[in-house]
Amino acid sequence: MDLLEKLRSIKARRAKFEPGPAPGATVIERVLGPCEVVVNGRPTLMFGSNNYLGLTLHPDVVAAARDAVAEYGTGTTGSRTANGTLGLHEQLERDLADWFGKRHAIIFSTGYQANLSLIGALCGPDDVILIDSDSHASIYDATRQTASQVVGFRHNSPESLRKKLERLPRGPRNRLVVVEGLYSIRGDVAPLKAIVDVCRANGAYVLVDEAHSLGTYGPNGLGCAEAQGVLEHVDFVIGTFSKSLAGIGGVCVSDHPELGALHFLARAYVFTASGSPSNIASVRAAVRVVRREPGLRDQLWANIRRLRQGLQERGYEIGSTESPIVPILTGDEERTIALWQGLLTEGLYVNLIVPPGCPQDECVLRASCSAAHTPEHLTRALNIFGRVGAELGVTPVALS
Ligand SMILES: Cc1ncc(COP(=O)(O)O)c(C=O)c1O
Repeated sequence: MDLLEKLRSIKARRAKFEPGPAPGATVIERVLGPCEVVVNGRPTLMFGSNNYLGLTLHPDVVAAARDAVAEYGTGTTGSRTANGTLGLHEQLERDLADWFGKRHAIIFSTGYQANLSLIGALCGPDDVILIDSDSHASIYDATRQTASQVVGFRHNSPESLRKKLERLPRGPRNRLVVVEGLYSIRGDVAPLKAIVDVCRANGAYVLVDEAHSLGTYGPNGLGCAEAQGVLEHVDFVIGTFSKSLAGIGGVCVSDHPELGALHFLARAYVFTASGSPSNIASVRAAVRVVRREPGLRDQLWANIRRLRQGLQERGYEIGSTESPIVPILTGDEERTIALWQGLLTEGLYVNLIVPPGCPQDECVLRASCSAAHTPEHLTRALNIFGRVGAELGVTPVALS
């Protein structure tokens, strides 16, 4: 096959959806607010972003970014291990360790690189990595750069994990179990208490990626491990800044003092530039807001309940777990794309999940909630869901 052939076939597949909005090619022309944008010249409600606490335009967060540009310039122009560590990076690491009540924190340029860095630095040919079968691409990719044995276990099944661990030959090989707190497509929460118990009984280290749950779960917003009372038994917590913290970057917090060695060992940390000053400063400000305003989480959860109830009243089938991610289970690919195009044309953006992002006939529209959605945003979005769903015959009820 010619080197460029698979690129050509993607182009041909995209042509199939014309003349409607093209999946995967939405351009946001302007930002009107944390949950309102302009797409194709039209004001559009944003129900697809991970801006769960609505902090992207928070005045403290914006001011911190602006001040940091004026003080430090636009970029660090170097790796953390070379000239790219500013006092700001270390301050953010101290803030995050303090927030989590963990002894150590190290930050990365993206959440993706946090998984690549940690798993890549920890694991080698003498180790076994056990991952949930629904893991995020960054976890799969992280395991691929190691020479470790990789074992998958059934999604959210501590029993499957237990069997896989028990089947491993006894010996000196280390075991690292990697799970997510909240899964990013179907919005389901990991049974962390049971997973941690299985890991402890079988001598395995535990890594929990709280990308989508940081800021949204737990009394202090630390994620699902905090919410389920097992944070102290988790060896490594990964978080990202690109969702509730309204920036870009990732973090690992841990009580293991060896974590600091990643500064010299982790390829996806050493061989890339550090986070820009404005970004790091804005994330520090966002952490302060999340810590002092727990009411943001209350608002988010009230919005989640309203959206879920409204979708169900209009006849949509949605995932069973109450979470900031509301998966609308649409099944067939053509029907899902038609619904996605219809919603966008009416001024409502949600995310579209079709193969290869999911199995055939298990397509999903992934709606997500923000604390910054107002009652009016929710009413307007539900009206659009009601009207378009009924017009396309996706929902039986023409309630708007
Ligand atoms: C579970 C998980 N880990 C890591 C990442 C990567 O984070 P980032 O986008 O901040 O690089 C994501 C992104 O969605 C994610 O869902």
